Amino acid sequence: MLNSGPRATAGVTPVLCFFLASSAVYGQARRNQDWPVYLGDKATSHYSTLDQINKSNVARLRQAWIIDTGEKGEFQSNGLVINGVLYTATTSRRVLALDAKTGKQHWAWDPAEERPGNQGRRQRGLVYWANGNDRRIFTGAGTYLYALNAGTGKLVREFGTRGSIHLGEAVGNPPPSVTINTPGVIYKDMYIVGGVTSGPGTIRAYDVRTGRLRWIFHLIPRPGEYGYHSWPPEAYKTAGGSSNWSGLSLDEKRGIVYVPTETALPDFWGGDRKGANLFSNCLLALDANTGKRIWHFQTVHHDLLDKDLPTPPVLLTVKRNGLTVDAVAQGTKNGLLFVFDRVTGEPLWPIHEVPVPQSELPEEPAWPTQPIPSKPPPLTRQTYTIDDVSDISPAARQATLLRFKRGGSQGAFTAPSLKESIIFPGFDGGMEWGGAAVDPDGIYYANVNEIPWIYKMIPTRREDGKPMPAGERAYRIHCSSCHGLDRKGDASAGFPALTGLAQRSSRAAVTTVINAGVGRMPAFASLPEAQRRPLLDYLMDEEQPREASGPVSGPPYIFGGFRRWFDPEGYPAIKPPWGTLNAVDLNTGDIKWKVPLGEYPELTARGIPPTGTENYGGPVVTAGGLIFIGASADETIRAFDKDTGKILWQAKLPFSGNATPAVYMVDGKQYVTISAGGGKSGRPAGGSIVSFALPDSQ
Ligand code: HEC
Repeated sequence: MLNSGPRATAGVTPVLCFFLASSAVYGQARRNQDWPVYLGDKATSHYSTLDQINKSNVARLRQAWIIDTGEKGEFQSNGLVINGVLYTATTSRRVLALDAKTGKQHWAWDPAEERPGNQGRRQRGLVYWANGNDRRIFTGAGTYLYALNAGTGKLVREFGTRGSIHLGEAVGNPPPSVTINTPGVIYKDMYIVGGVTSGPGTIRAYDVRTGRLRWIFHLIPRPGEYGYHSWPPEAYKTAGGSSNWSGLSLDEKRGIVYVPTETALPDFWGGDRKGANLFSNCLLALDANTGKRIWHFQTVHHDLLDKDLPTPPVLLTVKRNGLTVDAVAQGTKNGLLFVFDRVTGEPLWPIHEVPVPQSELPEEPAWPTQPIPSKPPPLTRQTYTIDDVSDISPAARQATLLRFKRGGSQGAFTAPSLKESIIFPGFDGGMEWGGAAVDPDGIYYANVNEIPWIYKMIPTRREDGKPMPAGERAYRIHCSSCHGLDRKGDASAGFPALTGLAQRSSRAAVTTVINAGVGRMPAFASLPEAQRRPLLDYLMDEEQPREASGPVSGPPYIFGGFRRWFDPEGYPAIKPPWGTLNAVDLNTGDIKWKVPLGEYPELTARGIPPTGTENYGGPVVTAGGLIFIGASADETIRAFDKDTGKILWQAKLPFSGNATPAVYMVDGKQYVTISAGGGKSGRPAGGSIVSFALPDSQ
């Protein structure tokens, strides 16, 4: 499973099949090796058996080719390589088929030609399926799943309704929006996928040929289903989320699919969803043939802090007490690692329920305990103490110390409160969607973030219990996270004050900003008119009608926004490291090594050792003894020695490589190819694909 090795793919001649089969025996003679599945294989092991590029020669690695997709940012795609063709999805969800040796384009497909409108962004990959000459690329765009002919890039009109299916159709009527940012997995002749949804989360299996639904698993249970009583009655009709957006892994031999899930909606308010909320924040093992639950483990009960399981689980084999155990390892935003026997669901090391801080919001009881594995140790610090105050400069130390003394930190399970708190580990990990790599030795390689965030809840009702004017309420919900509750903004973070707008702007000008966004401010084009008019009244200091009396709908508290905590210079307000790469021996549960990932050259110049940076995108480990990873916020791709964590090679990218590389071989040459789109962590955005190989003289 882990080591798929060279495989005869449909469509190659018998002679070539023989050659590929025999080359598996004589590793050196390999000519071609695909990267046929998102993250390398269905175990999502991020592992390559290639060793042409290895510790002894990686220093000579050079750029082989580069292309510009002409798009910008959120380019997170891990390309597929099949028979020398690289298939990838761009930021706007076009699909490109490129020569994997040169980057030359074979074809491009644009979903906007089929259905105009917003297709969504940040697509992390595609799915390939073949049967004889019927070779298909599956891609999600908008709320549809499309099947493309892998040879021509034309829609396979026999699939679904003339080439596509609506991803919400099986879920409800009217169908909720379901979009795919991380691809699903093929099992037999089924495409199994979750997706991001406004409705209740589900896992669905579709017939790859026809698009017909084969099975569905309800992540918010229906009456009679396991977990139904972990919600208020009939919650599936009103609750949403608990979906699977971070990918899934398949034990193909046993027919088990492993599904990590997110928080229920709304992420930060659970007063209307009292209970543990199965199957949100779960690792779930389903029978891939039928969709029946085999086992599950909930990593956060009744989540109030958006602690989605952000990474696909990886399947690996470890040695325990002389026995071989097929395991599944699930990383979390809190930097914890849950490891189970993947057949039985038994944890490899005991997991304890530990008391956590309790909510200060009266209508919002938090769950009293949360599960913490006794081993492996967490991959990040678990709370921000006085020893974590930034030390990169006297100014940073003073500012972070002052702020720390005002509020302190309660760690990963900070109590929901109207007071501002430091939440650490933060909202973007710990681990993130890049996931982790595992090698056949049972070592787990994961990049993590160590960035503190600021968290608070905001009341949407007047303190006297009276309804709040609609404009002020809309302002609190949509605008206050950046422009402040008091409209005074936050100059140090670049958020302008919105006080006195009537004196210096016009209703029309503010409407334009709301509709189109400006600079770092997103557009609010879809804000309903019933909120927009009173919002404008409120901003332009005009008389506001009170909301009609009667029950006030919507949550009484909303989330105060995603805010990282920075020092006065704009660096993370914590003692480094800010991002690390880790190797964990899952045979023993011990951390083998930990090194910073990423570097700010201007800080190095000041004599500060490499701090690591915030990072998004995953590693690949190879039989050549190397870990290839971009991810860091410094436009660099690196190769680390997998045994020591030493950097053996690095190269500049045009934009940060916030994606997982694809590692493959074409015509006897090994390539490492990464999407470089940047745009994360305040870095410049673009849309390049860059490929590296050893020079020909090798
Ligand atoms: C994610 C943060 C964020 C949110 C949420 C946000 N804004 Fe902004 N807004 C900004 C930033 C940053 C700017 C400055 C943009 C620039 O000039 O680059 C800005 C600028 C503005 C301006 C222009 C200010 C001026 O002085 O002319 C207006 C008006 C405005 N925002 C209104 C709103 C309204 C109304 C909402 C809620 C519907 C909102 N913003 C939500 C970040 C935000």
